[in-house]
Amino acid sequence: MTGNQKIIVKENAVMLSQKATTIFSQTAKESIDRHGRFVVAISGGSTPRRMYRMLAEEPYSSAIQWDKTYIFWVDERCVPENGSDSNYGAAKKDFLNRVSVPEAQVYPMPGELPPKQGAQKYQKALIDFFHLEDGRFPTFDLIFLGMGTDGHTASLFPGHRTVDEKKRMVVAVKGGNPDVNRLTMTLPVLNRARQIVFLISGKEKAVTLKTVFEDDQTRLPVQKIHALDGELTWLLDREAASLLPDTQLVRNDPEEYGKEI
Ligand code: 6PG
Repeated sequence: MTGNQKIIVKENAVMLSQKATTIFSQTAKESIDRHGRFVVAISGGSTPRRMYRMLAEEPYSSAIQWDKTYIFWVDERCVPENGSDSNYGAAKKDFLNRVSVPEAQVYPMPGELPPKQGAQKYQKALIDFFHLEDGRFPTFDLIFLGMGTDGHTASLFPGHRTVDEKKRMVVAVKGGNPDVNRLTMTLPVLNRARQIVFLISGKEKAVTLKTVFEDDQTRLPVQKIHALDGELTWLLDREAASLLPDTQLVRNDPEEYGKEI
């Protein structure tokens, strides 16, 4: 494990979400202090939803400067926005409709378009937002990621060529659960964030996490996440971390192991 990577283990899923919400809120403050805005990309799945709901509650909802916050997605399922499988739909319900973020600062992936067209449109939105020159990639202040039991992250699935994408920022892909067309950011975008935070909870993730940290031979998509210039945090609950050797956790973050901070 390299120096710009750490593991934080929280006692349970609630504490994990509290810590994630604190990271969101603190990074927002630091980013706005430093460069006047906070640009975050969030993911789908069930794990981050408690954090999303906490963001709409005190003390976080008033502490965050929503008028200087810009929200993007790392991936989206090409499903109706109001259905239960839409990442944007879930975030709207969980916090976007309940906080004062201006609608123009929320950038859902266009899951309603034919997938390839949707991917191109979102890439164009990134180029415009970050004023990118040809061949450049955006730098997000913070990116939240999840991990599937098969080792996927965002919608980058094992064995799929989109995992090796080097040029495009957003691609279309089919797979996952639900097994539908999806749009996903690619590794060159994810790895350039100032802060990358994995949120991983539950005992069903424990075996995969053990493989991630102990098996160099396996190249799961999740193992290809590296903070090129920033920091990578693995935020786990005790069940997810249950098969990781204590020595590794203690060596990496003695104060935070199993404690609320
Ligand atoms: C998605 C994702 C995906 C998710 C993981 C973990 O939209 O499906 O962004 O990468 O984060 O599958 O999902 P859970 O949190 O539900 O385990």
